[in-house]
Amino acid sequence: MEFTLSTESVLKLKADILVLGIFKQQKYSGMLKTINDSLGDALKNLSEEEGFEGDLGKSVMLSRTFGKIGSKRVLLVGLGERSEFTTNTLRKIGNLVINKIKSFSSVVAFSSEFSGTSGYVSALAEGLLSGSYEFKKYKSNDSGKNKVEKIIFSSKQIKPTSFKEETEFAVLISESVNLARDLVNEPPVYLTPSKLAEVASEVAKEGDLKCEIFDYSEIEKRGMNGLMAVSSGSEEPPRFIHLTYEPSKKTKRSIAIVGKGITFDSGGLCLKPAGSMLTMKMDMGGSAVVLGAMKAIAALKPSMTVHGLIASSENMTGGKAYKPDDVIKAYNGKTIEVINTDAEGRVVLSDALSYAVELKVDEIVDLATLTGACMVGLGSYTAGVMGNSQKLVDKIRKASDSIGEKTWQLPMDDELRAEIDSNIADIKNAGSRMGGAITAAMFLENFVGDVPWAHIDIAGPAFMERESPYSPKGGTGFGVRTIIKYLSGK
Ligand code: BES
Ligand code: MN
Ligand code: ZN
Repeated sequence: MEFTLSTESVLKLKADILVLGIFKQQKYSGMLKTINDSLGDALKNLSEEEGFEGDLGKSVMLSRTFGKIGSKRVLLVGLGERSEFTTNTLRKIGNLVINKIKSFSSVVAFSSEFSGTSGYVSALAEGLLSGSYEFKKYKSNDSGKNKVEKIIFSSKQIKPTSFKEETEFAVLISESVNLARDLVNEPPVYLTPSKLAEVASEVAKEGDLKCEIFDYSEIEKRGMNGLMAVSSGSEEPPRFIHLTYEPSKKTKRSIAIVGKGITFDSGGLCLKPAGSMLTMKMDMGGSAVVLGAMKAIAALKPSMTVHGLIASSENMTGGKAYKPDDVIKAYNGKTIEVINTDAEGRVVLSDALSYAVELKVDEIVDLATLTGACMVGLGSYTAGVMGNSQKLVDKIRKASDSIGEKTWQLPMDDELRAEIDSNIADIKNAGSRMGGAITAAMFLENFVGDVPWAHIDIAGPAFMERESPYSPKGGTGFGVRTIIKYLSGK
């Protein structure tokens, strides 16, 4: 999809579709009035017939313009309430518009209200790129639905240099989010821990990042016994991945982004029922976010050191599988009593978080498709945020709010800690069902020492069964934009 800027009047612009926006209760004035007049009041009449009043998410399509204006069709899109309009609205509109028109348009023009303010072009472009994402790799006879080749922004206001910056930024963000989506969508037979490590080394090579990958024997030698235990039931060897971005001017600040990389979660010996096992290829969603974010970080070059850490394994039922009742000594020396082999994410993360502490980072943020309980509590569209530092939790929540990824904080209720007390080890890997997302976070807290840490449980929003105005079906890349926003401020 190519983005261009045009100063030609929208009346004359030659496009398959001209997209116009209208707020709720907006009077026809300015360009909207001019176009409606040229079309003999057709937009107004059509809107009345269809009861369209500018609600967000609604639109009307005038499918013939009979040569009265340059474009063949007009899509009038509802922008909702003017007072509620933000760049997040534009992202949503980009997603919606592209899905409406992608099967029959190749040139799409947007009138000037879509580029009037700084940040609008990048938000709309992000939405368009996000909405045109398709995962077609395994379709034999399908070149995809998206026919859109060119997007024209009609504007006399925006400077060509800012336009270029904004569209390039949108492309970078979308490529990073789409990398995460692709990784989640790949079937587990392809995306094994070794394959994930290969992709990580490609990301590192492309972005000039340092890349260390620990194989089975290195993981064993270093005493990453949580990762060893979880992978023991699988024929696929585990991988521990460490990417590092260093700014060119050395600074003191450093942060670790840690991802759960379970490439398939069968539940292990505490086997999941068939229905719950389906979609468990998504259980590496946290690691996909780490790779997507590192790709963007390499290009955006923030002024801090960023470590991307991934603990990757399958969780299977082989003869050597770890068992309920086992006790494991994690990388930081704490002992874990295994209550449930299906609570494997926190077990592999125990090693990754302890490793992050060793790097002497100032902050740790982890992302994990960690608990079904988080989905029960918050629904599928919102990620749970917890941590040992209210300041860091607030910063993550603020970043996610500003770019339109929904997060909500869950409380680290001290009374719940008893749930994961163990009789024979330092800690149990599972408590009762009550407060399951919180006790999982409390488990993780044992491995971050006193480093400020935030945990983002993306079990719900990492993968969508149905498409939504924010994302396609399947892998969503949820979290990539929050992390980029948090690290780069952009
Ligand atoms: N990967 C799952 C969590 C999950 C569930 C992610 C549904 C996405 C959708 C995790 O490893 C798991 O199985 N958690 C258990 C924990 C329990 C055994 C304490 C759960 O949530 O049931
Ligand atoms: Mn599990
Ligand atoms: Zn899991």
